[in-house]
Amino acid sequence: MTELNNLAILGAGGHGRVVADAALSMGWQRIEFYDDAWPNLLQCLSFPVVGTVKDFVKTSPKNHDGVIVAIGNNALRADMLRDLRNRQFPLTTVIHARATLSYHARVDIASVVFAGAVVNPGAVVGMGAILNTACSVDHDCRLGVGVHISPGAHLGGGVSIGDLSWVGLGASVRHQICIGQGVMVGAGAVVVADVPDGATVVGNPARRAVNIS
Ligand SMILES: CC(C)(COP(=O)(O)OP(=O)(O)OC[C@H]1O[C@@H](n2cnc3c(N)ncnc32)[C@H](O)[C@@H]1OP(=O)(O)O)[C@@H](O)C(=O)NCCC(=O)NCCS
Repeated sequence: MTELNNLAILGAGGHGRVVADAALSMGWQRIEFYDDAWPNLLQCLSFPVVGTVKDFVKTSPKNHDGVIVAIGNNALRADMLRDLRNRQFPLTTVIHARATLSYHARVDIASVVFAGAVVNPGAVVGMGAILNTACSVDHDCRLGVGVHISPGAHLGGGVSIGDLSWVGLGASVRHQICIGQGVMVGAGAVVVADVPDGATVVGNPARRAVNIS
């Protein structure tokens, strides 16, 4: 079992602060942040920012018991995680003490699950996911690598979501829907039909938007 002594968090922005809070709730003792704003940024919450992300990569993988990447951009986060994994850094998963994770669900390494999130039986969540505050991932959902489910978003049973897709704040996805890779589901959308790779959809029912980049 992993010792919960020294945790390195890469990224000291708002998301990094929520990751730190979740880590504390599960018993991590000491946290160090690495952020490219260093040396202008020396502290985050009550924890030190001790270097840039490049500085971190040059440290020994043995310096920390766990490493988590707290960068919101899905593609950047996933790339960084692959690099850290290749360099044998001890990637860890951060699950808030008040998240509800079924014993029959699987959440892969380097994911974060925030307070109030629910992951139901049979769900499989790929590496480096963000399951944000009070979202739900229902039974038998399949999420790829680097997916972000935003606060208050809900996935019905059997939904599949491709790598690097982002489901926005408060969106809902009807059961059995397939969402492709690199998809953006806008805040508040209600998704009732499959979404192809790379699409941005908004509204209720969710449709591809012409005037959105
Ligand atoms: C969908 C989204 C990515 C579009 O962003 P954008 O490309 O910057 O779009 P804009 O804000 O320039 O808006 C473009 C148009 O789309 C509309 N629009 C934007 N987001 C929308 C949404 N979620 N639902 C419905 N319409 C939306 C705007 O009203 C605007 O319409 P108009 O041209 O008729 O005035 C973004 O608004 C969104 O919903 N992001 C999710 C954010 C989120 O969940 N964050 C969670 C952080 S943890």
